[in-house]
Amino acid sequence: MKVSDALLSRKTVRQFSDKPVSEETIRDLLEISKRAPSGGNLQPWTVHVLSGEPLATLVADVKEKLLEGALEIPEYNVYPPDLKDPYRTRRRVVGQQLYDLIGVPREDTPGKLRQLARNFEFFGAPVGMFFVLDRQMEIGQYADVGMFMQSIMLLAREKGLHTCPQEAWARWPETVSKHLDLKTHEMMFCGMAVGYEDESAVINKLASERADFDDFVTLKGF
Ligand SMILES: Cc1cc2nc3c(=O)[nH]c(=O)nc-3n(C[C@H](O)[C@H](O)[C@H](O)COP(=O)(O)O)c2cc1C
Repeated sequence: MKVSDALLSRKTVRQFSDKPVSEETIRDLLEISKRAPSGGNLQPWTVHVLSGEPLATLVADVKEKLLEGALEIPEYNVYPPDLKDPYRTRRRVVGQQLYDLIGVPREDTPGKLRQLARNFEFFGAPVGMFFVLDRQMEIGQYADVGMFMQSIMLLAREKGLHTCPQEAWARWPETVSKHLDLKTHEMMFCGMAVGYEDESAVINKLASERADFDDFVTLKGF
């Protein structure tokens, strides 16, 4: 597969089939993705990969907490509270496209919350990853982890797999830390669902937009 095909076919999948992903596939994904660059070659990531029973136990734990109405203090704000335009509009548009696609009306807050809660089932994926950093790290190292994650997401395409990166898990830092047995200096930054796309699921038809070239590129000297 060409890199451009991997890039163009990557999309966020939010409904996976129950086809399992082998340990060998996961090992291969991570062995190759570890070639991702990092400033100073720090490789500031560790990754916890859950499948089978450990994944089911975590999902059941969070589900129970959601039913009780329990909340945790999020690990971090995923978005700035006063998100400016054009970012605010982009976020609203993609959200609206998603809810339109699955038939959740604008005013149906419980419906939206049910969809949000699907994050905490890894959208039915057979594998859930968590990317962990030492709390000592700075902004530069978060970029490194992002590159590591994108490497995994692109390589997943070569293997016929799809992914959903999930900052939503930042809402459950205590529960996730407990299940992963994290030390206090470790921070779970982001989750990722990995598996095969449920091709019959309408939610996976979402085609997110991108800004035009001239809106984000400044060329000089050409
Ligand atoms: C770091 C990161 C975190 C994300 N967190 C979530 C998430 O928690 N839940 C979710 O459904 N999508 C999540 N997304 C997916 C984005 O919404 C998605 O990438 C964006 O809308 C563009 O769509 P595309 O990935 O299909 O091209 C995340 C994406 C990134 C890069």
